[in-house]
Amino acid sequence: MRIREAHPDDWPAIWPFMQEIAAAGETFSWDRDIDEQRARQRWFPQPPGRTVVAVDDDGRVVGTAVSGPNHEGPAAHVATASFMVDAEHAGRGVGRALGRHVLDQARADGFRAMQFNAVVETNDRAVALWRSLGMRIVATLPEAFHHTTHGYVGLHVMYQQF
Ligand SMILES: CC(C)(COP(=O)(O)OP(=O)(O)OC[C@H]1O[C@@H](n2cnc3c(N)ncnc32)[C@H](O)[C@@H]1OP(=O)(O)O)[C@@H](O)C(=O)NCCC(=O)NCCS
Repeated sequence: MRIREAHPDDWPAIWPFMQEIAAAGETFSWDRDIDEQRARQRWFPQPPGRTVVAVDDDGRVVGTAVSGPNHEGPAAHVATASFMVDAEHAGRGVGRALGRHVLDQARADGFRAMQFNAVVETNDRAVALWRSLGMRIVATLPEAFHHTTHGYVGLHVMYQQF
């Protein structure tokens, strides 16, 4: 598996698992029925935003991440990022490889910190993974996310200074 910059041609491989993740309503604060165009706009921001894909040995896209400044101007030195891994390829280190890559890239780009704005507290896999990569929970916004099965749950803000 390797991580590379995403190309517009990768979109047809990304959208099916992205749509599935949004529709599940468990991990992303997006409309569950977000349309393809809106999702694509969000996932392919203008530079300095970056989009990467993880591809397996056969060149298949198995995950993706988007990153860039979290805010503008005097707060533009803090990066943010979002991650999605195809459920069919979950639990095999794709998320960890994407997380490492995005953090290394943000450091190399001169960002001074990484902030994840909305990690659903019941998303155990993500919370454990981000913690293991040095992110820490700095706040939990009570009942800020309405989960499909758990109802109102907290959203963690996770942060790491470089
Ligand atoms: C969260 C996500 C990116 C993780 O990707 P992944 O490829 O499945 O993750 P990895 O295979 O790299 O595994 C990450 C770690 O989670 C651990 N893990 C798996 N299930 C877990 C669980 N239920 N509780 C705690 N840790 C768990 C794994 O053991 C692994 O740790 P290890 O590398 O020390 O073995 C992926 O599941 C995903 O896209 N989910 C839907 C969207 C999402 O949640 N995005 C992130 C929003 S913050």
